[in-house]
Amino acid sequence: MKMLVTGGAGFMGSSFIRHISKSRADVEIVCLDALTYASDMRSLSSLIGRDGFTFIKGDITDRALVFSLFEKERFDIVVNYAAQTHVDNSIKDSSPFLESNIIGVGVLLDASRMFGIKRFHQVSTDEVYGDLPLESTSSFTEDSPLCPGNPYSASKAAADLLILSYHRTYSLPFTISRSVNNYGPFQNVEKLIPLMITRLMRNETLPVYSRGENIRSWIHVDDHSRAVEKILFNGREGEIYNISSGFEIRNIDLVKRLIALTGKSEDLISYVSDRPGHDRRYSLCTKKLGKELSFSPSISFEEGLEQTLSWYLKNSDLSS
Ligand SMILES: NC(=O)c1ccc[n+]([C@@H]2O[C@H](COP(=O)([O-])OP(=O)(O)OC[C@H]3O[C@@H](n4cnc5c(N)ncnc54)[C@H](O)[C@@H]3O)[C@@H](O)[C@H]2O)c1
Repeated sequence: MKMLVTGGAGFMGSSFIRHISKSRADVEIVCLDALTYASDMRSLSSLIGRDGFTFIKGDITDRALVFSLFEKERFDIVVNYAAQTHVDNSIKDSSPFLESNIIGVGVLLDASRMFGIKRFHQVSTDEVYGDLPLESTSSFTEDSPLCPGNPYSASKAAADLLILSYHRTYSLPFTISRSVNNYGPFQNVEKLIPLMITRLMRNETLPVYSRGENIRSWIHVDDHSRAVEKILFNGREGEIYNISSGFEIRNIDLVKRLIALTGKSEDLISYVSDRPGHDRRYSLCTKKLGKELSFSPSISFEEGLEQTLSWYLKNSDLSS
């Protein structure tokens, strides 16, 4: 079986490739990645040169390249992790987000349709649902309406809708997963946990938006990879699955946990003006994934955060 993983040199795609290469010996993986600033080829170093793994540098918006790759490789499965992913960047300039996250998905869908792939899986996000009030205790289900609050999440929601339309119009076989925040090794330092860890390591101030009251849910990236594998191989075609560990924490409390783990001072916290349109709380209902696919996360937040911290401490050259 041949699988194309796009964006596989990024934080989550590389975890997925490392996982599948161990759990599914029968799967041949081709990774297509444009190698943007967010990628890190060291995340794939254990696989380079190994049988059953091929890396190709290229952009999913490059229609000629994508079509010739599909023609040559005849993929069974496409898993799309490729995207521009940092909300703050999308607020400064949305155009790369529209290109990669919408146009690029359109190119992959056209190639998937033309070459008759058996499953197109889109890695989407909880952010497509918009946010919940801080005091709310409810969670979004897969049937909640899409209500994105920033250009990044709007581009991801647009991609989800494009996929649903290709299913209805052309019967394209798909699944979509929508996950809460991931954390773990090899994440770019622009994101909250690596940003705070690397700044703590240098005794630099820790910028926290507003009062840090926004609530996020977190799942370890390796648990996310296991969930995507289950959806791909056991999930129902034409379905959307939410992915979460159920663990939620205010940003300020997360920063304080990292301060405590590193033995630094809370005086390093520096409250900065809020992100425009900052989503308040994300929370996903994951009954569907649990009930249909018996998925439950295996890494607790406490354990995962300590592991992630010690990974960054050991690999500080990777995160500078
Ligand atoms: N990080 C999270 O917490 C989170 C949560 C839910 C969903 N997601 C989604 O998961 C996916 C992966 O996220 P991540 O955190 O690993 O992102 P990342 O920014 O770490 O990696 C993205 C990868 O995609 C590649 N890429 C970007 N544009 C490309 C293009 N046009 N063509 C080919 N490659 C391209 C980059 O080079 C990079 O290797 C994204 O689709 C994101 O929307 C992320």
